Amino acid sequence: MDEKQPVIEFKNVSYTYAGEGNQPAIKNINLSIYEGEYVALLGLNGAGKTTLQLCINGVIPNMMAGDFEGEVFTYGVDTYDTPVREMAKHVGMVFDNPEFQLSQMSVAEEIALGLENLGISYPEMVTRVKEVLNIVGLNGLEERSPFGLSGGQQQRLSIASALAMHPKILVMDEPTSNVDPIGKEEIFAVAAQLNKERNLTVVMAEHEVEVMAAYADRVIVMHQGEIILNGTPQEVFSNVDKIKELGLRTPQVTEYANRLEKEGIVQLNGIYPVTIGQAESAFKELFK
Ligand SMILES: Nc1ncnc2c1ncn2[C@@H]1O[C@H](COP(=O)(O)OP(=O)(O)OP(=O)(O)O)[C@@H](O)[C@H]1O
Ligand SMILES: [Mg+2]
Repeated sequence: MDEKQPVIEFKNVSYTYAGEGNQPAIKNINLSIYEGEYVALLGLNGAGKTTLQLCINGVIPNMMAGDFEGEVFTYGVDTYDTPVREMAKHVGMVFDNPEFQLSQMSVAEEIALGLENLGISYPEMVTRVKEVLNIVGLNGLEERSPFGLSGGQQQRLSIASALAMHPKILVMDEPTSNVDPIGKEEIFAVAAQLNKERNLTVVMAEHEVEVMAAYADRVIVMHQGEIILNGTPQEVFSNVDKIKELGLRTPQVTEYANRLEKEGIVQLNGIYPVTIGQAESAFKELFK
């Protein structure tokens, strides 16, 4: 009876940015994302990842002058006739460059800013600031200047600011591109924890395929504005040749398994491991 409804639904969506001779940035997108999914978007520069993400909170078409076709429903609401500030209650956005989003004198004020806009009371704000700093592991830094934080800490602060609004969906656009390896791991871990413990739906554009394979429920590969592959990390990354053809990478362990099968050393029927854990069980026979 309990038919699952998508929390994000794209129906035949195409979008072309305003400007002479522009080609569609995304084309005929049909996509359903369900509550609690961790979805990773993979694609070359210009593939349309950011454009697709901006449709989720209605920035496209509401704040951009381009040509929008089709429909996007986020939590059942048609983004076309819903103000972005209304969508912000459901959808938190985190971008690749946290410093461009920072404007306040202290970490606490930075988080409170979005809450003021929502009309949240002062005592509730104090509670939420504490709560989200705890989640992202920045407790005790309330009074620090956001500009004195490391790149990884700044990015966790932008995640905290987004989470303070209690969104149901967190959209992250290459959140780790300006962060060192340890910071990257921290950010993925925070997103994974929220996804598991709070059933937060995560839509993350990323280039790091190894991490994607470890954390995401679903990988969507975009190419020239279209969705080319869409499935579990194993279903998608098993298309080793296709992914290479598109100029993208699979996890190294997947490529290696594919090579072993081509050499006739193992037989995996075209379904390859995408994590070390999966590789250990797939190759067990070899080590008997
Ligand atoms: N503001 C804009 N005005 C005009 N064209 C744009 C604009 N933003 C993006 N585009 C174009 O739309 C297409 C899709 O871009 P988009 O930014 O969505 O790709 P992306 O997958 O996010 O790329 P990246 O990995 O570089 O972030 C590209 O051809 C890009 O040049
Ligand atoms: Mg982008």
